[in-house]
Formats: sequence, C-alpha cells, structure tokens
Amino acid sequence: MELYVYSAKRYDRDTLSTANEEFGFHLEFVESRLDATTAELAAPGSAVCAFVNDDVGAATLEVLAARDVQVVALRCAGYNQLDVDAARRLGIRVARVPAYSPNAVAEHTLALILALNRHIPRAYNRVRDGNFSLEGLVGFDLAGKAAGVVGTGRIGSLVARLLWHLRCDVVAHDLYPDARLESLGVRYAPLDEVMSTTDIVSLNCPLTPETHHLVDAARIATMKPGCMLVNTGRGGLIDTAAVVDGLKSGRIGSLALDVYEEEAELFFEDRSHEVLLDDVFARLLSFPNVLITAHQAFLTTEALGAIAVTTLQNVADLAAGRPTPNEVL
Ligand code: NAI
Repeated sequence: MELYVYSAKRYDRDTLSTANEEFGFHLEFVESRLDATTAELAAPGSAVCAFVNDDVGAATLEVLAARDVQVVALRCAGYNQLDVDAARRLGIRVARVPAYSPNAVAEHTLALILALNRHIPRAYNRVRDGNFSLEGLVGFDLAGKAAGVVGTGRIGSLVARLLWHLRCDVVAHDLYPDARLESLGVRYAPLDEVMSTTDIVSLNCPLTPETHHLVDAARIATMKPGCMLVNTGRGGLIDTAAVVDGLKSGRIGSLALDVYEEEAELFFEDRSHEVLLDDVFARLLSFPNVLITAHQAFLTTEALGAIAVTTLQNVADLAAGRPTPNEVL
C-alpha cells in the first residue's frame, strides 16, 4: 500500500523509513503541508499521513475521499486540525498517536521554565559576545513557589511531578483529578484558583472549544502579578494579543511558548530570509522575557521512533479493517 507522508522533514523520512522495514509500505514523502490542494497529490486508493499543522478539514477530506483515500494516520497526539464529523461522514478512518513520549514534552516544558527563569538564552549570547555583566539576569528559586498545571493527563502529570521534585507547591486543575498525583501532595483546585494564585502556570490540556483562549484578557487580569506563563499544549489555548498586553503591563512576568496560535504559517520551515509578516509574533520576539521554541517539545529520538512505529501500525490496522484504540472516533 502507498502511504503519502505530508509535511515530511528529514527526521520523518529517517524514522519512518527505519520503522517501515517491519511494515513494507511504499512511502511517498511530500514536503508540502496537506490541504485541499496538495491532497490531489495522493494516489487513488493510497493512505495519507499528516502532522500537526496539516489541514485535515472538511475540504481536504472531500478531496481525499474523491481519491478513494480511506485511511488517514495523524503522526501526533492532538487532533484539533481534523474535522472529525467530516471524516465520519466521508467514511475515512483516522488514527493518531495518543502517547509517544510524554517525557519528551514534559522535559521540554521544564527546560523552558528553567531557561526562561534563569535567562539562559540571554546569558549564553552575552558570554559568547564577551559581555560578562549579570545585569538583568536575576531569576527566582523554584523551590517553594506555587506552580499551576492545567491538564494533568499523560504530559501534565509528568510536568506536575517534575515541578514537585523541584519542591514547588503544585496546584493542578483537570476535569479528572489524578489520585496518584494527589497522594504525592499535588492539590487540585478550580481553574480560577490555579490561575490566580500560582507563580508559574503550565498549560498541558488539549485545545477544545472549551479550552480555546482559556487565557484571555479577563483571565490575565486575575493572574498573580509577575506570573510566568508556559504553553506547550496548543497555541489556541491563549489569546496571544491579550498576552502581549499582559506582558506590556507586567501582569505576566515572563512567557515561554512551544506552540503559537498562528504557527501553521510559520513553524517547521527556515524563514530566516523572509520578512516576518505576523506582527503579533514579531512583538512577542521583541520582549526580553519571552522564550519561544517552534513546536519542538516532541522532538526526541525516543518520541520520533515511537511515533513512526505507532503511525505505521495504525495504517496497517485501519487498512486491514481492524479496530485500534488509536482511532479518532
Ligand atoms: P492527555 O489526553 O493524556 O491529557 C489531557 C488532559 O487534559 C486530560 O487529563 C484531560 O482530562 C484534561 N483536560 C481536558 N479538558 C480540560 C479542561 N477544559 N480543563 C482542564 N483539563 C482538561 O493528553 P497529553 O498527552 O497529556 O497531551 C496534552 C496536550 O499536549 C495535547 O492535547 C497536545 O495538544 C499537546 N502536545 C504538545 C506537544 C508539543 O510538541 N508541544 C506534543 C504532544 C502533545
């Protein structure tokens, strides 16, 4: 069976090709993002593999269905880029990789918190430039600080544990509290309390209609002045323009992002030779207290290997009509 892999980067080629030795699919790597236009590239009757910023909306699915594509494998955990109803209506089965390495994302979240708090990128650049001044590099002890975690699923529970091991007072919010975290000493509280009482807030819930712009102007107004906000979940969890205002007023003391609302137009490509047209993103880059990585929290050898194996297993299962717990229903 032919499998068209969209948004394919070198690391995708490497890991999927290695994993495919066990499966024997004919892999076609497409550098373009999947959308209603590029969907035409998929050969009739093939399967399609898509990534986080591919457009798997109704228009794309219509084109795929017309080409008799019946299987779509998302090589990511989140599926907010997918129109689930349209896929169901068109009879296209879709699977995802619910868990590949929650450690990868949790550890990156912690890396952002530590690097932002202790100004590591600025310090690194200064020292390379022969500037050994410490002005402006004051951080704070994490030990004893109140840390909020919104969403304590696979990733958030690890973030909570890591922060707990750093001796933070961890307060979490989730629709389903995790008893193992509670036995560790993590306290669950309503969202309002988590957002208004903690020194660090990490967003680790999925993007849903309920969580869209969970951090907006009204919420920011209630946050503890100088709070650090960290988002490795999905860009749409925060209203970025409101967060820019929060940074300007000082209500938000610092910001770390691995995801951005409009990242589909920016991330995963070298745009260093282009004029940056996104004014909100450009404004974010201008703050000394903002640290942004371009959706790389998942990018470890272990995670890529696990993603590749599960993705190909999903294709094999769906193509054979077998049930899989990874199917998006
Ligand atoms: P998960 O499904 O294991 O956990 C999500 C948790 O959020 C669940 O416990 C759920 O009850 C909770 N939740 C759902 N709605 C909520 C709400 N309204 N308020 C509070 N909690 C809520 O998912 P996992 O694996 O922990 O991933 C979380 C998110 O992280 C994914 O949805 C994805 O968007 C993002 N992610 C980011 C990556 C990156 O590279 N930056 C990589 C992988 C995932």
